[in-house]
Amino acid sequence: MSDLKDKIVMAIGCGTPDGQVNNGFAAAKAFLAAGAKVCIVDRDTVALDHAQAALAGTGTGPGGSHATGNLLGEAEPGADLDSRVTTVVADVGDEASLSAAFDHCASSLGEPTVLHYNVGIVVNGGLDTLETAAFAKALDINLTGAFAAMQQALPYMRRAGGGSIITVSSVGGMRYMGYDYPAYAASKAGLIELTKVVGAQYAAEGIRANSIAPGLIETPLIHNSISGHYDSVEDMLSARHALSPTGKMGQPEDIAKLAVFLASDDSSYINSTLIPVDGGLVHFAGTPKT
Ligand SMILES: NC(=O)c1ccc[n+]([C@@H]2O[C@H](COP(=O)([O-])OP(=O)(O)OC[C@H]3O[C@@H](n4cnc5c(N)ncnc54)[C@H](O)[C@@H]3O)[C@@H](O)[C@H]2O)c1
Repeated sequence: MSDLKDKIVMAIGCGTPDGQVNNGFAAAKAFLAAGAKVCIVDRDTVALDHAQAALAGTGTGPGGSHATGNLLGEAEPGADLDSRVTTVVADVGDEASLSAAFDHCASSLGEPTVLHYNVGIVVNGGLDTLETAAFAKALDINLTGAFAAMQQALPYMRRAGGGSIITVSSVGGMRYMGYDYPAYAASKAGLIELTKVVGAQYAAEGIRANSIAPGLIETPLIHNSISGHYDSVEDMLSARHALSPTGKMGQPEDIAKLAVFLASDDSSYINSTLIPVDGGLVHFAGTPKT
């Protein structure tokens, strides 16, 4: 695994709402395992409680208070990680709280040189059913939130002489997945292009930006946001396994491993691109073997 010992990571949307391993928490954990200092940001206090407890190795519940957008408290991470992890509550739709989260990272761990933007909400419904306000919400959180986070990260990366921006997009932003979620798809397509443009625009300053496009990944998110497209959760799981060229969905750790690589100097000449982690899904037009 790549070495992140000199990296300070803003891991946004990397709490775990139900204590299970999702893409965000798997990434935060992998960054820590690679030696980075990590500021875990989430709008959901409970998601941070669970993340903190899991990192402390207890897995049993809330592990302390979190800093807030107003810096009202300090996180209490597990003893073995106490100097390398902190948590902070912030909503990417609220620039003031996002700014305070970056301040919190800088004052408690150091100035961030890696931004990992994992936040992504699924907004279901198409032309027949979706109100424009709901469409705009998907863009606000999945795309404008990323822009705001990049804006916050830029001065820190400039001061450090470089940095790595990683966004978590989706194969749903590359092709039609058969799901009735055009708002989600459009937001992720926008995120992919935003990331590429930023990577190209700031390359001369040593700042890279790359997007990871997960394919069909087995996370709690699909139970909450995708299962409604199927008759049952079991139908969803077997359909998504069957759709995957490998015969099974990917795991959150598959995304996390690439995130660590992109955060590291091992990927120093990889910039302004999109890397699917999908078992071959976007290139596959055959009948999957089960
Ligand atoms: N699971 C899949 O199959 C799949 C496929 C493609 C892409 N993705 C992408 O992976 C990412 C999500 O992965 P996950 O498993 O960690 O999801 P998750 O929903 O479990 O975690 C997302 C975290 O983001 C937080 N969050 C949501 N809105 C926020 C906001 N406004 N401000 C701050 N934090 C906010 C949530 O509280 C949550 O803790 C998303 O970007 C999603 O689009 C997932």
